[in-house]
Amino acid sequence: MSPDILSAAGSIPSSCLHSIFHAAERKEQETGVGVVKLHVGDPYFSPSGNVADEFVAAVRRGDTKYTGPEGLPALRAAAVDKLREDNGVDSAVSRLLISPGSAQGLAALLQSLAEPGAEILLPELHWPVHLQQSLLAGFQPVLYPLGAGFRPDPERIAAAASPRTRVLLINSPANPTGVVLEREEIAALLELARSRGWHVISDEAYEHFCYEREHLSVASLERDVPVDERIVHSVFTFSKSFAMTGYRLGYVALANDRAADVMKVVQEANIIGTSTPVQHAGIAALSSRADAAATNRKLVQRNRDAVLPQLVQAGLLNELPAGGWYAMLDVARTGLDSEEFALRLLESKGVAVVAGNGFAMRPDVDERGHIRSHDFAPWARHLIRIAFCVDPAELETGVQRLLEFVGERG
Ligand SMILES: Cc1ncc(COP(=O)(O)O)c(C=O)c1O
Repeated sequence: MSPDILSAAGSIPSSCLHSIFHAAERKEQETGVGVVKLHVGDPYFSPSGNVADEFVAAVRRGDTKYTGPEGLPALRAAAVDKLREDNGVDSAVSRLLISPGSAQGLAALLQSLAEPGAEILLPELHWPVHLQQSLLAGFQPVLYPLGAGFRPDPERIAAAASPRTRVLLINSPANPTGVVLEREEIAALLELARSRGWHVISDEAYEHFCYEREHLSVASLERDVPVDERIVHSVFTFSKSFAMTGYRLGYVALANDRAADVMKVVQEANIIGTSTPVQHAGIAALSSRADAAATNRKLVQRNRDAVLPQLVQAGLLNELPAGGWYAMLDVARTGLDSEEFALRLLESKGVAVVAGNGFAMRPDVDERGHIRSHDFAPWARHLIRIAFCVDPAELETGVQRLLEFVGERG
């Protein structure tokens, strides 16, 4: 018999994203009929042509050797320019690190900041990967209650904090809620973090998908603070803005040089380096970023505006999401909880959605960082998440079938 696995990792359940992914695949294999996939944040559009051209050209040129753990200098310089010109963020090549996807950048950043007993503040309704990564890095996650409309409320965050709090995570536009924070809200969160001596991690994966107002980068608010006193570490991805999900490319703009030096060590140990031809493709993506990001935003916004109003009319959605790729629906009137809803919808209508309770897991974590048990916030019992970055016809079909399913039950 092989030895048991007693690590913290061994105590973490796989996320709701994973389980529906497999259920949808199984359904397709069993029936031979395609499932309408509203469960994954993968867009129906592709990267612009120059991205693939540059990837192939780099391979053909033989630009396939290791780069350093921090990434290709030319890509880092291009990302620094982009941050300055588009985000109002003052970064520098010395504090900007390329990563294989922003998920890995986030994981490495969390590993750089974790220390024994340290707590990280995450919203009670969160992307499950943020919770998994926090636990894997060795943080004690503290899930703070959100205010009205799933918006972070500094008072509630302050009440959830403790002397062991080290990091506050902000995700705007948010997955799964679609909430986009206003300048005053970000300023208040930043002020709280600064007054308490916390780091801030700002996950800006959906920076280009704001439909009502401009995206505001958290770090732009500390552009005039001396570098050594900055606290915001910002994480960005090529996956969403440039539809490069499978390329696996992201970057982290660290608050200061000390944090960057620490994360370089973490990356050296974790990845050696990011794929070299993919980084060349990233340079191409940044060179054509204005057009690509604007076009892609329009495509997703068109989906949102064309299809989601039906869900508002049906009383399943309060308002159109202000940003991101997802909408959280409340299906309480069907009498089904979110997991049953997702499974039965897949079974009877061939539509995959994510059970929303999985975004509101509440782990009971022991002092070693192992999950003893977990439950889900009761208010999330009837929530489900759909992605609206998918093919317009597919989205329309999926939503029609979902409405039919709800209609048959309520
Ligand atoms: C909030 C958020 N952050 C980060 C990511 C990671 O994206 P990637 O690793 O593809 O850069 C995702 C992916 O869905 C996400 O939703």
